[in-house]
Amino acid sequence: MRIEVIEPHGLCAGVNAAIACALRLRDVYCLHGLVHNEIVIDELKALGYRFVERIEDVPEGETVLFSAHGVSPQVREIAARRRLHVIDTTCPFVTRVHRAARDFSDRGLPVIILGDSDHAEVKGIAGEIKPRRPRASQRVGVVAQTTMDADEVAARVSELRKTYEVEAMADVCTATKERQDAVKRFCAAPGSRGVLVLGSGTSANTKRLVAVAERCGARAFRAGTLDELERIDFGDVETLGVTSGASTPERFFDEAVKFLRHVPRHLAIIMDGNGRWAMRRGKRRGEGHVAGARTLANVLRWCGARGIRYLTVYAFSTENWKRPKEEVDGLMNLFVKMLRSKALDFVHNKVRFRMIGRRGDLSSRLNAAITRLEESTRNFKREFIVAISYGGRAEIVDAVNAAMRAGEPITEETFRNYLYAPDVPDPDLVIRTSGELRTSNFLLWETAYSEYYFTDALWPDFTEAELDRALADYAKRHRRKGGT
Ligand code: FPP
Repeated sequence: MRIEVIEPHGLCAGVNAAIACALRLRDVYCLHGLVHNEIVIDELKALGYRFVERIEDVPEGETVLFSAHGVSPQVREIAARRRLHVIDTTCPFVTRVHRAARDFSDRGLPVIILGDSDHAEVKGIAGEIKPRRPRASQRVGVVAQTTMDADEVAARVSELRKTYEVEAMADVCTATKERQDAVKRFCAAPGSRGVLVLGSGTSANTKRLVAVAERCGARAFRAGTLDELERIDFGDVETLGVTSGASTPERFFDEAVKFLRHVPRHLAIIMDGNGRWAMRRGKRRGEGHVAGARTLANVLRWCGARGIRYLTVYAFSTENWKRPKEEVDGLMNLFVKMLRSKALDFVHNKVRFRMIGRRGDLSSRLNAAITRLEESTRNFKREFIVAISYGGRAEIVDAVNAAMRAGEPITEETFRNYLYAPDVPDPDLVIRTSGELRTSNFLLWETAYSEYYFTDALWPDFTEAELDRALADYAKRHRRKGGT
């Protein structure tokens, strides 16, 4: 299946401005959702936002944010009476429709609103007008929800003209129209075409894009999360166009496209062969590890350029403590040096660093370097996870003990909460270098459904071309995860 990004798509200027404004604030009340998108709402909740359904639920004197959908004059009056500090992110297009509805109503015309009567935008507009029942042949004002399908609005206005003398101010917003037109253009091309709309099931403009694609004869799909996307069966679609609703964050769009193009979200690597690489050159094993660390810095960069969100590497296993003291000490020093070095400049490269494994086994110097880095990079989205003094069995045993202490009944889902990095998705692909065909106690729980790629290259010799071969091989695989 060919993946085509449909342009333009996604965040419109109004929603973008509303989100940017909201992200600058903290601990604010928001009337209804700011946008119909769970990813954005969760982000705001983490910033201390409280979402309320009624303006009366905002305590007097507090700050309240009005969403891009706008609010009725009645809501504004109550906010003023309660001395609320209002941050108004109403989209200018919506404000224009409010003004038109008010003008029609002030001129004594009955006003017909085309749109979804349950939608916040329509409720806000309805607050501008005096309800009047129109009589046949009477002059009426017609306005429309800004995210409707332009063709549908035109058809309904023509229909109304058969009964009434219509004065219409029923433009859908430019961004909505441009996104719908792009879907129509995509669908007009020949071949078996499908359209995937990324966005929440509660977003009106997202649902409209689905309807537009269906009306154009394409198979239409919608997903608001990667989990939903994973469950979609695209059947015999040859070319899939991907678009998104006006409230869908671009970073989700990017992740979804990468997923569809089969770039693994999470790559895990068993970096094996440093010792043999050194021995074959008559060097000490430690020099193999130094060369391996150089490869690792390159791999981190290559993964970033390919959009891989999580990279986990196996640097030192619970079994590696059995190695000669000189090698173990050398490795521990190398870890400290690498974590402090410019080669892996996590802050500059905006990469979150995390360690998984038994921290109690490590020296206070290494633990301090790890903690410092974890703290200074905790807000970055791309992640680099290093397994040190790590064993898959040890992780499961540690998780079982933690679960027993918490006294919680265990299911597969709750068990995950006790793993070392519970929020990190399972690896999609595991690469092992040096020709060994074993998992060696690496991420035993997390790799239940991971794909494996084995290469004979020793880790210090691992190249960008080899990484691309592994990714191309992965992209060809059909991950059934127990299904058919
Ligand atoms: C396995 O090769 C490799 C290791 C045990 C260490 C890997 C560590 C690095 C590449 C440095 C990583 C640095 C950071 C900051 C994480 P081996 O010694 O088992 O090779 P062999 O099988 O040929 O003996």
